[in-house]
Parts: sequence; C-alpha cells; structure tokens
Amino acid sequence: MRPDSSAYEESRPEFRALYDLTYDHAPKIAVELGIQSGSSGRAIAAAMYDANGGSCDGCEICGYDRRQHLRWTDDWMDKDLEEIGGMYQIFDLWGEEGFSQWAKGRVVDFIFVDTDPHSYEQTMNWLNTWIRQLLVVNGLAVFHDTHKNSPVRSALDDFVAVHPGSYDLEYISVRYGLGVLRRTAS
Ligand SMILES: C[S@@+](CC[C@H](N)C(=O)[O-])C[C@H]1O[C@@H](n2cnc3c(N)ncnc32)[C@H](O)[C@@H]1O
Repeated sequence: MRPDSSAYEESRPEFRALYDLTYDHAPKIAVELGIQSGSSGRAIAAAMYDANGGSCDGCEICGYDRRQHLRWTDDWMDKDLEEIGGMYQIFDLWGEEGFSQWAKGRVVDFIFVDTDPHSYEQTMNWLNTWIRQLLVVNGLAVFHDTHKNSPVRSALDDFVAVHPGSYDLEYISVRYGLGVLRRTAS
C-alpha cells in the first residue's frame, strides 16, 4: 500500500502528486532536470526510498542544475535528507551537458523536468534527447508547468502527435500542472 503523502499537500500539492506517481512507478534510475530548492527532488527521492521497501539500495537519482541556483534547504519533507540524500547525486551541469556526459549506454526509468524558462524549444529539446533516446519503454517522464496555454504543454502535445503509438500523455491539473508522458513503444 502506498504511504500517506498528505503531508505534501499543504506546501506543494503538485509534489504530492509527484510523490504518488514516483511511488507507483517505483523507478530504480531517475533523472531530475532543474533541482533548485530540492522540493521536487526530495519528493522523488522519498518515493523511491519508500517504494524500495525503505532502502536506497540499487536506486540512483541524478539531478542537474547549476550550483549557483541550488537552494537545497527546504525541510518540509518527512524524510531525513541523510537517509535519502545518499542516492541523490547533484551535478553542477546543465541538463544538456548532463545528457552528453551521462547518456552513453545508459537508460532512465523516470525523468522529472522543471527547468526555466519552461519554453517550447527547451521542452522539445528534452523530449528529443533525454526522453526519446534514454527513457525505457514503460518509463515515465513528468513535466512541471503544464497549465493551459503553457509552452511546455504545447511541446508535449506536438511531440506525441509526431510519434503516434509511442507515448501516452495525460495532464494532472494540480496547481501549475503536471504533464505525465508514458513511453508505450520504442
Ligand atoms: C522552477 S526552478 C526548479 C524548481 C525545483 N524543481 C524545486 O522543486 O525547487 C527551475 C530551475 O531550472 C534550472 N535550469 C534552467 N535551465 C536548465 C538546464 N538547461 N538544465 C538544468 N537546469 C536548468 C534553473 O537553474 C532553476 O534552478
């Protein structure tokens, strides 16, 4: 049974949904693009820890952002960072650099994307690199800021339209919105 994630609801309701999505998917290898305060990173890490039976063994999360933008200080999460932090690796790299350095011969089960400026072009770039080239079949890519009229949402809609039968897309309309893309075929 999924743990009660209602503690997230008050401060960041969309990260409750992110926790639940991650827990249900139970990824072993996850990537986060756009770490900043670490709120989303902690939700992902905690869900992976919980889904793995209260352990970090065999789990890996790689987060990309530039150090000068990092403010990993939030402590609203119910998990001690010592406990879950061990599996969260922070890379002082943009996601584009991370892709070219990390990607060789690797795959990803789960990707969370929350990068400024949340433009159409930037989102399309993530879709054509991390998602199209590394996300496994049945893998999940979750995008933040997919409210109506958002460029992130337009890019997701266009990407799915040019890859018919390869992805399922749904939107969760909590706060700024989450777009959930599941790969269904290679
Ligand atoms: C909205 S914030 C992310 C908030 C974060 N998810 C949290 O829970 O605190 C956007 C972040 O995207 C980062 N960013 C912008 N372009 C990026 C890129 N190309 N690769 C990785 N991170 C990027 C920015 O430095 C900024 O920290």
